Amino acid sequence: MRRLLPSLLAIGVAGLLASGCASLIHPGPAQLAWAATRWPDATLDGLEAGREAYVRECAGCHFLARPTRLPPEDWDPLLDQMRDEEGVELSPEDREAILRFLASASAVPEVEGDAGGD
Ligand code: HEC
Repeated sequence: MRRLLPSLLAIGVAGLLASGCASLIHPGPAQLAWAATRWPDATLDGLEAGREAYVRECAGCHFLARPTRLPPEDWDPLLDQMRDEEGVELSPEDREAILRFLASASAVPEVEGDAGGD
């Protein structure tokens, strides 16, 4: 029985890491409603693509920042900062999608029906 403990701990740590990734919200109707006030052509698929691009492009050098780390309007200059100071080159499509995802998830950090867990 004693020998079980380390492996149980290992599973616990892996579980924490997994839930840490899962806690990055998926955009829903509330985020889309906010995004549509700024970008009339915004879609739920587009916001989800922005989330995917964020995970793909932005996790290489540091942990992913929560969208609420910055107010919505600060994500645009932040992306410029990552480009100018850290050499992070994004395609125009990825940049726009990432910006829309981060800004809307910052403005509306909760998913309907989700308790949050921040
Ligand atoms: C090439 C490595 C690299 C990549 C890729 C990268 N970053 Fe960063 N990022 C950094 C470094 C280095 C810092 C710390 C800069 C500092 O403290 O001045 C940083 C800091 C940040 C911060 C904290 C800024 C602050 O004011 O505290 C945020 C938010 C951030 N990055 C977001 C992003 C996003 C969004 C992307 C994807 C577009 C991204 N990063 C991709 C290197 C990177």
